[in-house]
Amino acid sequence: MTDLNSGHIPLSLLPEVRRGIEYRCFCPRWRIQDITVGELWEMFDVRWAALSEERLDKDLETFLIRDSIDLAETTVQVAALHQGRVLGGLRVHLAQVGLLKGISGVQISRVGVHKDWRGKGIGHTLVSKAVHIARDVAVDAGLNLIFLWGRVVGGRDPKRVLRLYERAGFMRTSRFIETKGLLNCLMVATVRGTPAEHLSALGFRVTEVRDANDASATSMLVIFDADSGGRTADRRTSSD
Ligand SMILES: CC(C)(COP(=O)(O)OP(=O)(O)OC[C@H]1O[C@@H](n2cnc3c(N)ncnc32)[C@H](O)[C@@H]1OP(=O)(O)O)[C@@H](O)C(=O)NCCC(=O)NCCS
Repeated sequence: MTDLNSGHIPLSLLPEVRRGIEYRCFCPRWRIQDITVGELWEMFDVRWAALSEERLDKDLETFLIRDSIDLAETTVQVAALHQGRVLGGLRVHLAQVGLLKGISGVQISRVGVHKDWRGKGIGHTLVSKAVHIARDVAVDAGLNLIFLWGRVVGGRDPKRVLRLYERAGFMRTSRFIETKGLLNCLMVATVRGTPAEHLSALGFRVTEVRDANDASATSMLVIFDADSGGRTADRRTSSD
C-alpha cells in the first residue's frame, strides 16, 4: 500500500518481516499507510488492553481522546502483525519533555504487546524499529533528542524492565514521574553526540554514574537544572 511515488520515504518506515511477524507503519506526513483503518483500530485496542493492565487508562475512549497525538500528521504508528492479526504496536511522535523544562524531542510511547505474545522479542523489535523511525522524524524536524518513559511497575525489577529500552540504545536518567503508584523513568538517546553533550549544551548539568555494587549495570545520567544549585527535582507526581 505504500505510495512510493509520494516522494522521499525514509527506509525506516518501510515494512519488514522478522521471524514471520510483520512490522508496518501508518503516517500521514510521509504518506505511508501500510496498515488498514481496521488494523489501526485493532492496534489501539491491543495497546489499550496492554497499558490498562496497569490501570492507567480507564477505558478505550479515554485512551484515544486523552491527547491529540494520535491525530497529528507527523505521528508514526507502528504495528506488529501475524497472519492479519495485530500483536502489538507503539507510536513515534514530536513532544516536549516537561521534566526538562519543556525541551523538544521525538518520543516513543504507548508500547504494548498482546499478553499472549509477550517474551518473544516483539517488544524489542518494535522499540528497535521505532528508534530508527525516531531518528528520521528527528532529522526531519531538526531535533536531536529521542526519549521515552520506561514504566517501572510495582514488584518488577527496574533493571530488567528498563533493559528493554537500554538494549535499543536508550540511557536511563535520574528523572522520574510518579503516576498513580507507577514510576516512569525518563530514558534518552540522541541523533548526534551523546545525551550528556546534548543536555549540557542546553544548560543542564549532567553526571554519568555507575552502580558501584553491580558491575554489569549500565550507567545512569543524573541531571541537575542549571539554576538548581546542585539540587535535583527528579521525582514528581504528575503526568508529563
Ligand atoms: C513491555 C512490553 C511491550 C514488552 O513486550 P515483549 O514483546 O514481551 O518484549 P520482548 O519479548 O522483546 O522482551 C521482553 C523484555 O521486556 C522487558 N519488559 C519491560 N517491561 C515489561 C513488562 N511490563 N512486562 C514484561 N517484560 C517487560 C523485560 O525486561 C524483558 O527483558 P528480558 O527478556 O531481558 O527479561 C510488554 O510486556 C507489554 O505490553 N507490557 C504491558 C504494557 C507496558 O508495560 N508497556 C510499557 C510501558 S509504556
